[in-house]
Amino acid sequence: MNGWQRQAAGQEQLVFRIPDESAMRQLGARFAAWLREGDVVALYGSLGAGKTVFVRGVAQGLGVEQPVRSPTFTLLHIYPGPRLTMYHFDAYRLQSLAEWYALGTEEVVGNRGVSLIEWAERVESALPQDRFNVKVEGVGEASPRRVQITGEQRLAQWRVQLQDDPQARAWLPGSPDHGFPGHE
Ligand SMILES: Nc1ncnc2c1ncn2[C@@H]1O[C@H](COP(=O)(O)OP(=O)(O)OP(=O)(O)O)[C@@H](O)[C@H]1O
Ligand SMILES: [Mg+2]
Repeated sequence: MNGWQRQAAGQEQLVFRIPDESAMRQLGARFAAWLREGDVVALYGSLGAGKTVFVRGVAQGLGVEQPVRSPTFTLLHIYPGPRLTMYHFDAYRLQSLAEWYALGTEEVVGNRGVSLIEWAERVESALPQDRFNVKVEGVGEASPRRVQITGEQRLAQWRVQLQDDPQARAWLPGSPDHGFPGHE
């Protein structure tokens, strides 16, 4: 197993070992290049895992100039970019699915720009099946994170491209730096 496997129904999976905050941003920025209008990215991981850092990287990759704030108290921040608008949701404080729908999410998520949703497990039943899942494991200052990204076959093309990117290659299985047992 090389950590890169075909999932059910044409789903692909990629696992990274991300050594620090800067690498997490860069991972998000690289991922952003593959995003298209209507894409949905569900983010999973405990408090302080690095979901917002990943989203900051996506914003950077999309060419968003505004700084990305943590949306916890507002549920949604909107960032227009030159190519796509980024909709950044945080479901952590959501009381109910009704509140989620009341935000007008149905009009946006899967239809407009790119939607990234932190604490996606809280609204999972309202999210489209066709989406990317980004799961971040690990917490603490300056400690590596395991990031698992699943989704459609575009990810396979991305992986090919990452092989030619010396910095990103170090985050992938097979690299001496990867070092997560069970993912070699
Ligand atoms: N390898 C790493 N990748 C990402 N962040 C890291 C890493 N190592 C340390 N950190 C730190 O972990 C913190 C991650 O914070 P972040 O706000 O992104 O978490 P979050 O998953 O969005 O949490 P919340 O659920 O509260 O929104 C930052 O302070 C960051 O500097
Ligand atoms: Mg966050």
